[in-house]
Amino acid sequence: MSMALSSSSSSSFCSSMYVKQQRPPSPPSFLNRTISNPTFSFLKPLTYPTHFNLSAHSSPRSLKPIRIQNESHSNNNRWSLSGMTALVTGGTRGIGRAIVEELLGLGATVHTCCRNAGELEDCLQDLKGLGFGVSGSVCDVAKRSQREELMETVSSSFDGKLNILINNVGINIRKPTVEFTAEEFSTLVATNFESVFHLCQLAYPLLKASGVGSIVFMSSVSSFVSLNSMSVQGGTKGAINQLTRNLACEWAKDNIRSNSVAPWYIKTSMVEQVLSNQEYVEEVYSRTPLRRLGDPTEVSSLVAFLCLPAASYITGQIICVDGGMTVNGFHPRHN
Ligand SMILES: NC(=O)c1ccc[n+]([C@@H]2O[C@H](COP(=O)([O-])OP(=O)(O)OC[C@H]3O[C@@H](n4cnc5c(N)ncnc54)[C@H](OP(=O)(O)O)[C@@H]3O)[C@@H](O)[C@H]2O)c1
Repeated sequence: MSMALSSSSSSSFCSSMYVKQQRPPSPPSFLNRTISNPTFSFLKPLTYPTHFNLSAHSSPRSLKPIRIQNESHSNNNRWSLSGMTALVTGGTRGIGRAIVEELLGLGATVHTCCRNAGELEDCLQDLKGLGFGVSGSVCDVAKRSQREELMETVSSSFDGKLNILINNVGINIRKPTVEFTAEEFSTLVATNFESVFHLCQLAYPLLKASGVGSIVFMSSVSSFVSLNSMSVQGGTKGAINQLTRNLACEWAKDNIRSNSVAPWYIKTSMVEQVLSNQEYVEEVYSRTPLRRLGDPTEVSSLVAFLCLPAASYITGQIICVDGGMTVNGFHPRHN
């Protein structure tokens, strides 16, 4: 069963308690990191977006700026998600949590989900403490009926319109191929691929109704290169990559974009155990040109960018966040 939680009350464990809150007038402190980031300080509000009329008889001197219609992005700011709605699966920890915070910081209204009710409540309360009107549901995305309930909650909360779907949830079981049981195989495929496929199906009418839709999938470098004991997980992420491309083409007519982000090792609870082995970590560093692990915020920044109006011509792409791991050839360490 899935339950909706609102950040407005710790005891609001039911979908009817969802409350929309106004965003605070100024961003909370953890978000200053994002908003006052020097990378963005040169940015001034731009007229969003412009392009040029290249008719057969145009010379460069006669190019005239014309406006692309974008009715649903009311504030005309291509570096803002203000007024947009988002669903982020698995947003209480790790990469998903960083994505929730990043999207909120850029002005979106966010609904998230996870299986653990206590963790969800803590997460929502933390964000409420920072002044945000985020909401959430207890939902196991591996279960079809719970996915349906989740999307019903999202639809009623956001008036049938969703701008952003972040398919973040994914799990891993590490084993040599021949040792996988049928059940383990099914669990991985159901959680990592079947769930995102079905969530996309359920979200489609909402994304279409919003007028400007964006889907971001959480893939992995395991979809590009062979990783030890990860044949099944790598297969599910490869399937996500192709779904990304298919939806980019199939739903372009509805102004829905579809992209994937593919991380290498990011410091989260998912990889805590394997990275507790220092020898293993040294091996990871040796394969990573930047010689370090990634931080969840280094993934969430790309995810948020892909959702921004600034990324409006990017679709069907799978982008690695990997410290250079997937392009690494041979560089002797003594060089
Ligand atoms: N960390 C890495 O190094 C790395 C590398 C490549 C790709 N990725 C991908 O990045 C994504 C996020 O990974 P992460 O490292 O941030 O994971 P994480 O730290 O384990 O966090 C997972 C989040 O998803 C939720 N979740 C897990 N299973 C769920 C389910 N069946 N239904 C609903 N919620 C569920 C968890 O909450 P509950 O447990 O309460 O449900 C939690 O909020 C995954 O798709 C993963 O494959 C991660």
